[in-house]
Amino acid sequence: MNKYMVMVSLAALLTACGEKAEKAAEAPAAAPAQTDVAAQQAAPASAAPAVDKAALVESAKGAVQALGGTLKGELEAAMKAGGPVEAMGICHTKAPEIAKAVSAEKGMEVSRVSLKNRNPVMGQANEWQTAVLNDFEAKKAAGEDPATIAYAEVVNNEFRFMKAIPTAAVCLKCHGTELSPAVTAKLTELYPQDKATGYKEGDLRGAFVVVKNLAQ
Ligand code: HEC
Repeated sequence: MNKYMVMVSLAALLTACGEKAEKAAEAPAAAPAQTDVAAQQAAPASAAPAVDKAALVESAKGAVQALGGTLKGELEAAMKAGGPVEAMGICHTKAPEIAKAVSAEKGMEVSRVSLKNRNPVMGQANEWQTAVLNDFEAKKAAGEDPATIAYAEVVNNEFRFMKAIPTAAVCLKCHGTELSPAVTAKLTELYPQDKATGYKEGDLRGAFVVVKNLAQ
């Protein structure tokens, strides 16, 4: 009789433990699932006002400054050390690397594009970037200062920022109308499809682009 009761209570204990164990196993899976559902339900209502465009613009400007500043420093050092032909080689390898590093550091995709691009892949503007570059040209023609022309918009949960890049005198050695034969030779070697020459000081050379996916 005693033995039987022990067995019953053991069975009850085991059952109880089994149930507890099952619930415990379910719980961690169930909790995040509920949170996900709650987040999804809340998202449509809160997505639009949650975008702080002014803060994104500030971050984008910081990213542009980081990329522009680093490129300028590298270019100046390379021009001093070896002149435009040497500097061309450095631009060729370093410019894409620097853009990648700054993008990773800032959590935003930073690049440079142009209507007349030199880099055949990264320098090529896509459809909306081409539209913005054309708009920048129109603004400059209407008398706006190229140094301050910029664009910022949120489209399909994507933050988009562009900032015009004016051509300075120092750029003309590699982007101008009268290039040295050595520079021309190097350009032909590195960029057989180059379109980025023939610029004058003050022309729009292109623009910085910053993109951030807000859905992530
Ligand atoms: C030593 C030569 C040299 C000088 C000087 C130079 N660039 Fe460039 N530039 C290049 C090269 C090479 C590339 C392509 C880099 C790459 O492959 O990403 C380039 C690319 C660019 C791009 C990216 C879009 C494109 O056409 O592919 C912009 C914008 C640009 N340069 C602006 C400037 C500006 C503004 C200056 C002056 C402040 C300047 N560059 C001076 C050699 C030069």
